[in-house]
Amino acid sequence: MTQELTSPSPAPQAPGTGRGPGWWRDAVIYQVYVRSFADSDGDGIGDLRGARERLPYLKDLGVDAVWLTPFYASPQADGGYDVADYRAVDPLFGTLQDADDLIRTAHDLDLRVIVDIVPNHTSDRHPWFQDPELSRQRYLFRPGKGESGELPPNDWESVFGGPAWTRTDRGDWYLHLFAPEQPDLNWDNPEVHTEFEAIMRFWLDLGVDGFRVDVAHGMIKAPGLPDIGHGAQAQLIGAQVLPFFDQDGVHAIHRAWRRLLDGYGDAHGRQVIGVAEAWAPTAERLALYVRPDELHQAFNFQFLNAPWQSDALRSVIDASLAATASVGAPTTWVLSNHDVVRHTTRLGGSLARARAATLLMLALPGSAYLYQGEELGLPEVTDLPDEVRQDPAFFRGGRATGAAGPGTDTESAPDGVAAAGGQDGFRDGCRVPLPWSGELPPYGFGPGGSWLPQPADWGGLTVAAQTGDAASTLELYRAALDLRRRLPGLGDGPMTWAPAPDGVLAFTRPGLLCTVNTLGHDVGLPAPGTPLLSSAPVTVDDATGRLPGDSCTWWAI
Ligand code: GLC
Repeated sequence: MTQELTSPSPAPQAPGTGRGPGWWRDAVIYQVYVRSFADSDGDGIGDLRGARERLPYLKDLGVDAVWLTPFYASPQADGGYDVADYRAVDPLFGTLQDADDLIRTAHDLDLRVIVDIVPNHTSDRHPWFQDPELSRQRYLFRPGKGESGELPPNDWESVFGGPAWTRTDRGDWYLHLFAPEQPDLNWDNPEVHTEFEAIMRFWLDLGVDGFRVDVAHGMIKAPGLPDIGHGAQAQLIGAQVLPFFDQDGVHAIHRAWRRLLDGYGDAHGRQVIGVAEAWAPTAERLALYVRPDELHQAFNFQFLNAPWQSDALRSVIDASLAATASVGAPTTWVLSNHDVVRHTTRLGGSLARARAATLLMLALPGSAYLYQGEELGLPEVTDLPDEVRQDPAFFRGGRATGAAGPGTDTESAPDGVAAAGGQDGFRDGCRVPLPWSGELPPYGFGPGGSWLPQPADWGGLTVAAQTGDAASTLELYRAALDLRRRLPGLGDGPMTWAPAPDGVLAFTRPGLLCTVNTLGHDVGLPAPGTPLLSSAPVTVDDATGRLPGDSCTWWAI
């Protein structure tokens, strides 16, 4: 379906300063979940060397940047989001030299590198928490309620299930919005600010191009830590402002970080960015995180959670674009990540829908994040035995919602999400190591096994199996990313809705018209041009285009 464009020209490059329009406004950024990407040493766990060796694959795929999930020294109570030393690489993943090599190799390939920073909490093994004096000042300790302090200080629940407080041997309690091994930092303490700015400078000095800010909506808690008054709080994350999330006070932190990033970028002739993982109840509240003096990007989880219905998709797209435009920021689209059910499964177990959703996403103005394996059309693994699961939410009795918010609630989920069922919304099923080649596990993931078992039927989904097969999902991603690069203005240019039949979305972008048929059957319409790329075979007869059910087509206009 791909056609040669008559006048391919590269997208304009932004100036190399920290200000103004920049590379990130329309970048496609690939999330490497390091533990599951590629294993170089045979311990069954992906590592930095493995990731470095596979960078040419990402270059060839056509992405602009790579986001690496935490590889820092950590007891791994939450897949490395429990950091014990922010300046050290965990031996599981390699060494600081390996990180340095990876960043250099990426830059040689003209790929930028974003790393995670985890500021809401540390590991309980962090030296600050281990020190009885320091911990008092730098974390959130409170006396308990009840006659002898035997009750938690308030009714807050951990995102992973159970109370958000754990009692110490001394009798007081500390707050952990996630696992007990992840105590929340006290951001009222200026030393915490100073330390995180120093950590950012450390990684910037090593060459990283930005930070994905974990739980960017979480650092500031409402004064007095008030009760919420009802249970099932995990279901409310992202649906309303809770006293522990999306408090206005977090924005002062993001402003300070933007000053740091811009100052560093200006001084070094680079554009370094921050992307917020923020769960906000509305597009407007999310846009606050990307005001001109705050972070550069914020994941659009409302798009991720939208059901596969044309009206719902259109309204979430409109709301997102309007909100980000009001602050002059691009929208940052995402369909899958390491916290949610993979979108092939989430959208009703339909690879056709997943492919269409991806083409839709890549035709929208702004930046997009891809999660490793989605380019292979990987489904969620829904039959992992309990004994191999590692998601802390599973062990804490959290139900359908992981760290990710309401979208993974299988009970209230829109059409298609409930079909994800098997793994109850826990997060191991989207973290199964990638299949690269071969007919049997570990499918070239590494010389050993894989830390989570891979399905026996993934032989046809490997990178090797899909490469060169024009009908494969991998080649669809390659073609889409190639076109996206070669159509000037597609990333950050204007978008206009076009008339379309019920159940179909149509909009124009510079150089193309995109149609999305969300219905389960063919729809005919006057062919708007010549098909450039389609998620399913589209036909044009006598000037009538037939859009297959659950498909997306880019038309040259
Ligand atoms: C974010 C991460 C998630 C982690 C949580 C706690 O939501 O994406 O994986 O469990 O933060 O750090």
